[in-house]
Amino acid sequence: MAGCREMRSGAISPHRPAPKEAFTSKPSGPTPFARRPDQRACGPGTGIGLPSYALDLEIAAEVAELRSADLWDLGALGVEVRDDETTQRPGEGPPPGRALLVGWFSDRDKAERAASVLGGHLREVEDRDWGETWKEGLGPISVGRVFVRPSWVAVRAPDDSVEVVLDPGMAFGTGSHPTTALCLAALSELLVEGGGASVLDVGTGSGLLAIAAKKLGAREVHANDVDPVAVEVARENAARNGVEVLFSGEPLASLPGRFDLLVANILANTLVELAGEVASHLAPSGKAILSGILLPQEAVVRRAYLAAGLRPLEELDRRDGEWVLLAFGREPAE
Ligand SMILES: C[S@@+](CC[C@H](N)C(=O)[O-])C[C@H]1O[C@@H](n2cnc3c(N)ncnc32)[C@H](O)[C@@H]1O
Repeated sequence: MAGCREMRSGAISPHRPAPKEAFTSKPSGPTPFARRPDQRACGPGTGIGLPSYALDLEIAAEVAELRSADLWDLGALGVEVRDDETTQRPGEGPPPGRALLVGWFSDRDKAERAASVLGGHLREVEDRDWGETWKEGLGPISVGRVFVRPSWVAVRAPDDSVEVVLDPGMAFGTGSHPTTALCLAALSELLVEGGGASVLDVGTGSGLLAIAAKKLGAREVHANDVDPVAVEVARENAARNGVEVLFSGEPLASLPGRFDLLVANILANTLVELAGEVASHLAPSGKAILSGILLPQEAVVRRAYLAAGLRPLEELDRRDGEWVLLAFGREPAE
């Protein structure tokens, strides 16, 4: 599903070309990137400062690590390094042998002191700019018990959360999209450490949901995607997080096993097509968490899953703006 790939801005990301995380059928109306009540941003009262100042330092690449350490010591909340390794497009980054460091600060005094010690150019970052960063899925976010941190942003995870370090590359799934966030919140509710659940993530994209499931306490996690690029990115992300997830590029129909929890964040028409397969991959008492459904599509998805023999678990259904998450359960074996 090419429409589920995202591209990112070169402005903050050291890696790749331009934004955005959107489903193919991106609706009009409220932005699908709006922050949700259960999603804690960096900012006042969260324990994680919202960066308001950026200190740009152009330096010799060989001292980048040293100067990064200095920025941290001087109170930076995050340090970003752009050099010729992290910049892929010619002419976009600093000249060969040079590196651009960006130190992010929330405290003006600290930012000014860092500028007086290290030099460089201090600029104020408008809230609007940071908001744009969020929209592009480039900032860290917290949803439920999951803290998702882009691999190139260094901020501390809240103590009570599990951290997923992610580089979504060209795959969908930074956590910033409401459909992903709804799934993260559901996984946070349904999985407990030591609970022993087996999980299948259908349409894993960047691997975020699968990795989060494992970190939230799933015993065993399988994941698939029909897009080979996504599978590759997801494997890299699982390795980055040091968790074992069994990834496959095979369609759901070819996957063996039955699972306690199946999560699928895919477009509604695909969810409808997969209803029978989803049902047959659920263990007795297994639950399916379906996301990627726009409000007007809810009825058709609901009908397909009832027809597949599952029962609605309405207490687990959730809504975020125009998006809904539907939950279904398989009856326990007689
Ligand atoms: C919206 S993205 C979701 C990514 C990630 N799970 C998340 O929640 O952020 C949907 C993903 O499903 C994949 N996909 C589409 N149709 C599929 C199918 N029939 N079986 C498995 N994966 C599929 C796409 O390639 C894409 O990576």
